[in-house]
Amino acid sequence: MGERFDLIVRNATVVDGTRAPRFQADVGVRGERIAFIGNLKNKQATTEIDATGKVLSPGFIDAHTHDDRLMLSAPEMAPKASQGVTTVVAGNCGISLAPLVLGSRAAPPPLDLIGDKSWYRFPSFKAYVEELENNPAATNAALLVGHTTLRVATMKHLDAPASPGEMDAMKNLVQEALSAGAIGVSTGLYYEPARAAPTEEVIEVCRPLTARKALYCTHMRDEGDHVIDSLEETFRIGRELGVPVVVSHHKVVGLPNRGRSQETLPLIAERMKTQGIGLDCYPYCASSTILSWERTLIASKVLVTWSTPHPEFGGMDLADIAAKMGVDGKQAVARLLPAGAIYFSMDEADVQRVLSFEHTMVGSDGLPHDAAPHPRLWGTFPRVLGHYSRGLGLFPLETAVYKMTGLSAKTFGLKDRGVLNEGAYADLCVFDAATVDEAATFARPIQPAKGIEAVIVNGAITWRDGKATGARPGQVLRRQ
Ligand code: ZN
Ligand code: CU
Repeated sequence: MGERFDLIVRNATVVDGTRAPRFQADVGVRGERIAFIGNLKNKQATTEIDATGKVLSPGFIDAHTHDDRLMLSAPEMAPKASQGVTTVVAGNCGISLAPLVLGSRAAPPPLDLIGDKSWYRFPSFKAYVEELENNPAATNAALLVGHTTLRVATMKHLDAPASPGEMDAMKNLVQEALSAGAIGVSTGLYYEPARAAPTEEVIEVCRPLTARKALYCTHMRDEGDHVIDSLEETFRIGRELGVPVVVSHHKVVGLPNRGRSQETLPLIAERMKTQGIGLDCYPYCASSTILSWERTLIASKVLVTWSTPHPEFGGMDLADIAAKMGVDGKQAVARLLPAGAIYFSMDEADVQRVLSFEHTMVGSDGLPHDAAPHPRLWGTFPRVLGHYSRGLGLFPLETAVYKMTGLSAKTFGLKDRGVLNEGAYADLCVFDAATVDEAATFARPIQPAKGIEAVIVNGAITWRDGKATGARPGQVLRRQ
């Protein structure tokens, strides 16, 4: 095993990301990789972490993020590093920063969730990847190219299906993105700029995925009344392209659809027998995205997360804002736009059913640039470990860790990640299983989690003692 290590984590309770039972060990790291797991009593290292009484697991993989810009604008990645996250999957819901140059055009919603026009300045996906590689973040990234971004980049009329020429242009951009390192395409067929895209457009634009066995990830057209049709559309796209699909932030929304995860999950399980399907979810019964009046109609309560004309209302209940303005809800929304919101629109029983489904990964779907973000941005992973696993006993700790590590690495094709093996990358998290939990709340959403002791990315410590260390060892990961 050699003499010296760069880093030793001693006396840890190892939860290895495979669902195997926990065991006691020291873990030695050399360079970017785990060199030894076992007894290192007589060995020394430049840096040592005493993990007595603590869990050592693979670092968490955030299966669903909108961190495309955060990695450039706040590369210490505090909302994620503070939760034990070591890899983020970015470019979701059809929204990626590249390839798109907006120039003097405003960013159309929902692209404005991650940046204004000044951030859409990458003429190619390669240009974005190069900027990330030249200015690394504290987390690794696996990148999707967004179909809505491609539509805005290539199309004249977003409210219509793409013409054959526009589809060719988008297809070429997908090809370029995959060559530059993207692991797949995401769509956001739910959102206005992509709604008019028929299934056939998506299949045509995604053709280049087939040769590379790359992924198709989707914020489906409908997560309410027509959720089954949307699942079938997603599966069809996967079958026609011969590629695996990921159903993003799976949920059923709206009062009439309460309980319908009892229909969706068996359907997903059935189709998984014949095609590759993954899914993720965030552990809350409120969603968050751009504000629109139509979207408020399915929610029992709405909180405004940001507003360009009225930043002072960030964090407030829409009903209170309307009262303050002396107008009705619809008029208040019109005055607040462009804006974002949190919608309480799910049933806790559905959330628990989806989260505990054997094949569900954990993804935050956090929106890092909101003034008053949904607490999922800072709280998702510790909440699953603390509230749902330890508190409610929804599943054992080993399963909780698997849903945020090994399962996600397998689904996204991230080799030597997500498992704590000799030879794997040293992406690690040390946490206290007795205290780990979210600290963020809807009222105070910007709070580092409790119980996360140390976070290591590619062998370098990125988070320790409640703060970012300044290390930025993140890599852009390719699909393997
Ligand atoms: Zn989404
Ligand atoms: Cu999303």
